Amino acid sequence: MAVTIKSEDEVKQMRIVCRLAAEVLEIVEKHVRPGTSTEALNDICHEHIVQNQRAISACLGYRGFPKSICTSVNQVVCHGIPSEKKILRSGDIINIDITVLKDGWHGDTSRMFLVGEVASFAKRLVEISQECLYKAIDLVAPGTRLGDIGHAIQEHAEKNHYSIVREYCGHGIGKIFHEEPQVLHYGSPNTGLILEEGMIFTIEPMLNAGRHTTKLKRDGWTVETSDGRLSSQWEHTVLVTGSGCEVLTARPNEPL
Ligand code: MF3
Ligand code: CO
Ligand code: CO
Repeated sequence: MAVTIKSEDEVKQMRIVCRLAAEVLEIVEKHVRPGTSTEALNDICHEHIVQNQRAISACLGYRGFPKSICTSVNQVVCHGIPSEKKILRSGDIINIDITVLKDGWHGDTSRMFLVGEVASFAKRLVEISQECLYKAIDLVAPGTRLGDIGHAIQEHAEKNHYSIVREYCGHGIGKIFHEEPQVLHYGSPNTGLILEEGMIFTIEPMLNAGRHTTKLKRDGWTVETSDGRLSSQWEHTVLVTGSGCEVLTARPNEPL
């Protein structure tokens, strides 16, 4: 299926669900601390989505995923499964990835959190990966090509001696969780899809401290760095507007 262009009415629905997804990250923040299990974080998010937002976690049951959110700690690149056995410790870095489904529409966003006192080398990876997302967002506008976006992310990561994960990418989103186009976080300028007003997609770069390669754990979901070094990811859902872009999952205190 081709890339969908959302109507003004569909954009309104996406604004609503994306705000809900962003709100979950705001709600969970104060619970991310040493001693908390990733299962507890899952339960807090799940309850908020279901009870307060009257919405659905799109992750729960998605292709058999067993939990409502993804919690990816340290060397876990993405799709970490919340567990009561995984207790956060001071020094950990964690990505929490939320996808809310409301009235048939999806909103997808993730961010990193620092747990307790985090070493400066880990903080730096987290910061540079956020900068990669923001540099990509700055480029989103009609006429920009997806290769321009991938290139900007890759260049900033590699300039800082980090690598870009290749196996997972951003995606179109709307009534379907993962739709066209694929949004690669590496690439060449002036190549790929030309953006048009009304397109909605995620940008979700994963940066590794070491090699870019990953391995899938035997649970069938958890993706780790193959060298065991740290990984960091930030994700927003963005709308291409007439003049640039609107970050649909922006949090109020974010420097966008
Ligand atoms: N939210 C993830 C993404 O950014 C997808 C998670 S799928 C799951 O695309 F099944 F692992 F939850
Ligand atoms: Co996504
Ligand atoms: Co996500």
